[in-house]
Amino acid sequence: MTPAQTYNEDQRTFWNGINGEYWARNQDRMDRILAPMNGPLLDFAAPAAGSAVVDVGCGCGATTVALASRVGPAGRVTGIDISEPMLGRARERLREHSNTTFLLGDAADLSLKNLGAELIVSRFGVMFFGDPVAAFSNLRTALVPGGRIHFACWRPIPENPWLQVPLHAAYEHVPRLPKPGPEEPGPFSFADPERVTRILIAAGFGMPTFRPLDIELDIAAGGTLEDAAIHAVEIGPTRRALAEQPEEIQALALESIRRALAPYAAPDGVKLSGAVWLVGAGRAD
Ligand SMILES: C[S@@+](CC[C@H](N)C(=O)[O-])C[C@H]1O[C@@H](n2cnc3c(N)ncnc32)[C@H](O)[C@@H]1O
Repeated sequence: MTPAQTYNEDQRTFWNGINGEYWARNQDRMDRILAPMNGPLLDFAAPAAGSAVVDVGCGCGATTVALASRVGPAGRVTGIDISEPMLGRARERLREHSNTTFLLGDAADLSLKNLGAELIVSRFGVMFFGDPVAAFSNLRTALVPGGRIHFACWRPIPENPWLQVPLHAAYEHVPRLPKPGPEEPGPFSFADPERVTRILIAAGFGMPTFRPLDIELDIAAGGTLEDAAIHAVEIGPTRRALAEQPEEIQALALESIRRALAPYAAPDGVKLSGAVWLVGAGRAD
């Protein structure tokens, strides 16, 4: 297997296993945490009423719902995701939206030529491709000439205390995760605009624009410090750092995470800042 095939296989397993199931079970919580993204991303992408839009890595469908209401009954939204549990949740919640369709599969190799979309949108769903140039080249085939792609991805971890604070608290008890390789997929793999520009241009898009967006994430989703700490150990790199650790180490890490998050606790949640790129590009041809 090539490194790209190995990355793809790992991602398919990750999003169909324990991680995808956590997102699907906690759809409401995840939607509340990521809600500050929706307005800015939709305003940036500006879907037109009546247009055809693709939501890549749509997960449990939060942005698919928002896009479906923006394009209205004369438009249509196609959500694509590799995760069966997450897409199952999206299908369930969008049952009554007749202008939405879902495709289960890898956005890198599904046949998308018939979609005839004016716009591709993604909220944190395009950083997980083993071979991103191949994946974006395939996504480009979903677009009509003049079509655009607009997505959100994270800026570097040090600019994202919502993740860095609990992760570093966990590192008091467990070894640091190995630094990801420069082409390895992951939530922070699109933090460098130069890399993203290289990928988009090679995939047949024009010069992209990058707009920084700073948001506040309530990682307790309106709940308590305990909710925030428990959630922090369940997702992303912090989960990976603690995986397969003995129970007593996990308990110590949870205690450190609680302590580290305490200064951010307020009566209405536990709020830390997040740093995002809003990236936009048009089809080059
Ligand atoms: C961080 S989640 C974001 C989900 C959703 N966009 C949201 O904001 O709630 C990343 C999503 O990308 C999906 N994904 C990862 N690799 C994919 C691929 N190759 N093709 C399609 N979807 C993929 C995952 O299954 C997951 O739903």
